[in-house]
Amino acid sequence: MAKKIEIPQHIAIVMDGNGRWAKERGLPRTAGHQAGEKVLFDLVEACIEFGVKEVSAYAFSTENWKRSPEEVKFLMGYSREMLRTRRDRLNEMGVKINWLGRPQKLWKSVISELEEAEELTKNNKVLTLNMCVNYGGRAEMLDAAVAIAKDALRRKVKPDSLSEKSLRKYLYSPQMSDVDLFLRSSGEQRTSNFLMWQLAYTELYFTKILWPDFKKKNFYKAIFDYQKRERRFGKTSQQILDNNV
Ligand code: FPP
Repeated sequence: MAKKIEIPQHIAIVMDGNGRWAKERGLPRTAGHQAGEKVLFDLVEACIEFGVKEVSAYAFSTENWKRSPEEVKFLMGYSREMLRTRRDRLNEMGVKINWLGRPQKLWKSVISELEEAEELTKNNKVLTLNMCVNYGGRAEMLDAAVAIAKDALRRKVKPDSLSEKSLRKYLYSPQMSDVDLFLRSSGEQRTSNFLMWQLAYTELYFTKILWPDFKKKNFYKAIFDYQKRERRFGKTSQQILDNNV
């Protein structure tokens, strides 16, 4: 029997290489982020065409505060502006915007834009776009651990009966699915504290292309590569074969 052609249902993206792309052109780093933003929305469109249901974009990490004050200021202001200009079109496309991250330190105006976009798009079903802003995988784990410890003290949770399923309820977005395909541009081969829990069984795909140069054809290539992988989730190849028959 022919192998089923699988479309990854959840894709996580690290949009890396914006700074290098700008440098190669003698432009400020911020120009790279502006070019990268357009690529993200082209990719969301391509994902809808393919039937992908969820995209998680690493827009600003808990470690990105270490960048120059100018770049941090730009990324904050730009996220706010981007949400305002894109949200109506995304809403028309049936995209549900969901914010993942810590409110601490994040600009209040960015939080308001994220919350307004969430409210506007909350009933959409075509695709969920998880905007990871001031997000860190370790921060998410730590925040979950603190919330569990507090609930244990209040006797709302019994430590011995905690399971993977009940732990998930303490993550930033419990309804979020596990990631099928992780995509990182610019040649760096690491996950950089992105979605640690949700990436446990994810297929990793790295490309040397800098994010602003990442085109739809490169995305299709990543999908075809994914389709060649065998996802075993701890089982053997034979078991997977037997299940598919
Ligand atoms: C990594 O490239 C990119 C970021 C840290 C920011 C990503 C932001 C965007 C694509 C702008 C869109 C904004 C939103 C809110 C979607 P880098 O700066 O580390 O590049 P480098 O490794 O070449 O220096």
